[in-house]
Amino acid sequence: MNWAPGEFAERIVTWQRRQGRHGLPWQGTREPYRVWLSEIMLQQTQVSTVLDYYARFLQRFPDVAALASASQDEVLALWSGLGYYSRARNLHRCAQEVVARFGGRFPRAAADLQTLPGIGRSTAAAIAAFCFGERSAILDGNVKRVLTRVLGIGDDLSVAAHERALWQRAQDLLPAAERDMPAYTQGLMDLGATVCTQRRPACTVCPVVDRCAAAREGQPERYPVKTRRLVRRQQTLWLLHAIDGGGRVWLAQRPASGIWARLYCLPAHDDRDALLRGVPTGARDSVVEHPPFTHVLTHRDLLIHVLTATLPEGAPPGGDGRWYAAGQLPALGLPAPVRRFLAAQAEAARPGAVS
Ligand code: ADE
Repeated sequence: MNWAPGEFAERIVTWQRRQGRHGLPWQGTREPYRVWLSEIMLQQTQVSTVLDYYARFLQRFPDVAALASASQDEVLALWSGLGYYSRARNLHRCAQEVVARFGGRFPRAAADLQTLPGIGRSTAAAIAAFCFGERSAILDGNVKRVLTRVLGIGDDLSVAAHERALWQRAQDLLPAAERDMPAYTQGLMDLGATVCTQRRPACTVCPVVDRCAAAREGQPERYPVKTRRLVRRQQTLWLLHAIDGGGRVWLAQRPASGIWARLYCLPAHDDRDALLRGVPTGARDSVVEHPPFTHVLTHRDLLIHVLTATLPEGAPPGGDGRWYAAGQLPALGLPAPVRRFLAAQAEAARPGAVS
């Protein structure tokens, strides 16, 4: 489907101004620090989830210098529950690089933004467009879906040349005027998130439905085409929930790489026997096994078994770690399923709780 220059952009901009999302806390600003923080948090995460985290982050770290000088543990603790923790580690490193390389001011150009940790091509373009009106195309998963449908591009996007060609098409569709770039960029995001959804898109309210190739074909869900499927791995983890007589729990910081890197976690083992070897012999009779549950990560499904062992005062389990009181947990970065498990245990132990 061919569009006259500027026509597609005009429809998106008009639609965004009338029907798009407004009043989100990161929309009222052109300050790169605030826009960058929101874009990183919004990667793979819904607006409704991000709102509280965004407010808390800004309150604790009002500017890039404050974030750069924080400890990584504190950043991970504030991020705890948002998932995809490499984002938090990169966020921290990015703040430090902005201070070290750019004197504490974010660079304006997408090409420079893209040299910073955690800022990919699409995120760099979004920040440059929102803050400075740079005519740079975004192309995240939502926008790929919108453009392949509208343009009827059935090429396999797992082929690099096809993805490159789509970037070029995205660039060709940009509005001519820099002042339209924020509304256009937000409009594409809004359309992808609220109308041109992966399943059952709301074509009847779409501003470009009359010119959409996929709508005309009648099967918009066939786009985008991606043949290379992620192979999901299954992994089983055995977590030792060691508690002492005083209600403290034993946590160990995870290694710097691998799942939940640097977060504080119940000691994890590959199998039941390895876990039990970490329980002092005298406490083996206290071991209680909980029903296993699954936790889905980007590239793998975790099957998590947790065993509780009550250890006598002064008899820690084997391996690294230390005891933490319940009151200390909110300040630690914990993997979401571990935090949920501990919260459920605390709730069950509350006097008067129904078990
Ligand atoms: N997802 C990514 N960026 C976004 C933004 N600026 N507003 C809403 N959702 C988004």
